[in-house]
Amino acid sequence: MTSSNESIRQHEYIEKLKEVTADLCKKTGHVPKANVTTFGCQMNAKDSEKLKGILVSGGFDLTESEDDADFVIMNTCTIRDNADQKVYGHLGVLNHLKKKNKFLKIALCGCMMQEKTVIDKIRESYRFVDLIFGTHNIYKFAELLYRMYTEDAGMIIDIWDSTPEIVEDLPAVRKYPFKSGVNIMFGCNNFCTYCIVPYVRGRERSREPEEIIKEIKDLVDDGCIEIMLLGQNVNSYGKGLSQEITFAELLRRIEEIEGLERIRFMTSHPKDLSDELIDVMASSKKICKHLHLPLQSGSTKILTAMNRRYTKESYLALAHKIRERVPGIALSTDIIVGFPGETKEDVDDTIEVIKECGFENAFTFIYSKRTGTPAASMEQCEERFVKEQFDRVLKTVQETAATKVGSLLGSVQTILVEEINEHKEGYVSGRMSNNITVHIKGDGSYIGKLVDVKLTESKGFYYFGEEV
Ligand code: SAH
Ligand code: SF4
Ligand code: F3S
Repeated sequence: MTSSNESIRQHEYIEKLKEVTADLCKKTGHVPKANVTTFGCQMNAKDSEKLKGILVSGGFDLTESEDDADFVIMNTCTIRDNADQKVYGHLGVLNHLKKKNKFLKIALCGCMMQEKTVIDKIRESYRFVDLIFGTHNIYKFAELLYRMYTEDAGMIIDIWDSTPEIVEDLPAVRKYPFKSGVNIMFGCNNFCTYCIVPYVRGRERSREPEEIIKEIKDLVDDGCIEIMLLGQNVNSYGKGLSQEITFAELLRRIEEIEGLERIRFMTSHPKDLSDELIDVMASSKKICKHLHLPLQSGSTKILTAMNRRYTKESYLALAHKIRERVPGIALSTDIIVGFPGETKEDVDDTIEVIKECGFENAFTFIYSKRTGTPAASMEQCEERFVKEQFDRVLKTVQETAATKVGSLLGSVQTILVEEINEHKEGYVSGRMSNNITVHIKGDGSYIGKLVDVKLTESKGFYYFGEEV
């Protein structure tokens, strides 16, 4: 359900916020500065662009540093326990800063705030926090900020369990002028037994295709040539809309947008990947030759316990089919090691699948127990065993990727240059269609441009190249 009334309301709050920031400016002698720190995935990165858009429209300047900030907000992630620990660590630093700057206000939002245990802990041990909200009401940020500055109510906590509403047309400050993420859906219905996302992001809701297309057209008018469609399971896009539409059909419509050069998407759940999608990928000129297809485990026993709803064999068959039908495609994946009940033999299965699929890239994670998920009450693996198995998997992943990635050496490819190379002076870095990074000689003028390069040196996960 799209709500335009709510959008109008929030724009009114942005106007009111300008009065607040003007007042702050008078008191402190400078335009108030805001710092936004983002943890977690691309959805959070996208949400942070919206937070920044509201802050800037409301009269704040953005700052990269917390030290000179008058307002700090952390957009949190809770996918694994170490994500939570980073936020608590950071809060300690902020407490210190707050003692030095009496105008400093601190806010927390994002996935971690959807957990009751977290809120209880912050209430008790981090009482200097001024504002907390969750994932469902992020569109109310302007209103909440206004309340925080105008009411003397102590810590404001506003967390919702869910929302049917999708609020469009709020401002955003984009990180890259030439590429952007675009939400196509929110939430997740899959309930993989290890995963906290369905609990903190709520049920799956798709945006109307017209809204998505409009956003992309506006982005292209604004200089974007690459977009990344975002959703926890893009393959089930379109369910529940008044006029149901498949993800493949959405891609076909997006392909027609003039001026758009590259289309990426994330994440594809193997259980829902259709032949129709493979066909669209095979025939498209704009969809990048890269598919992120999270495996999680190569053992059917573990996959069943994870509620992934595919088997070792069906995953392998799918990977082979894609490689066959979409020549030149790179496959990347996510793997979890140490899921409850996992044995050495299960990890052998995972290693077998990695070798057979030949992933160009794989993100390997140690299983992290998340309170409230079904896997949390299963018998957990021993830490030492998990570390050993993790090292085995990591080694396989690195070896496989290095041989795979090196195979393009000597060929000419097009890259989209994204940034100055921080490690090698006089170089810039970009990505091929298959998502693999290439470093070439260049300067700031290359950024955002498509450049043809010859791959001259393979470094395992990336290349050096020369402009041709
Ligand atoms: N929706 C995506 C995944 C989003 S989370 C999908 O289904 O593929 C990104 C990755 O984090 C997952 O693919 C998984 O590998 C990892 N992950 C999720 N929960 C985890 C947990 N409890 N412990 C360790 N890794 C986890
Ligand atoms: Fe988590 Fe599974 Fe949903 Fe991905 S599909 S977000 S892993 S529950
Ligand atoms: Fe983390 Fe939330 Fe993304 S838990 S991985 S920020 S959806």
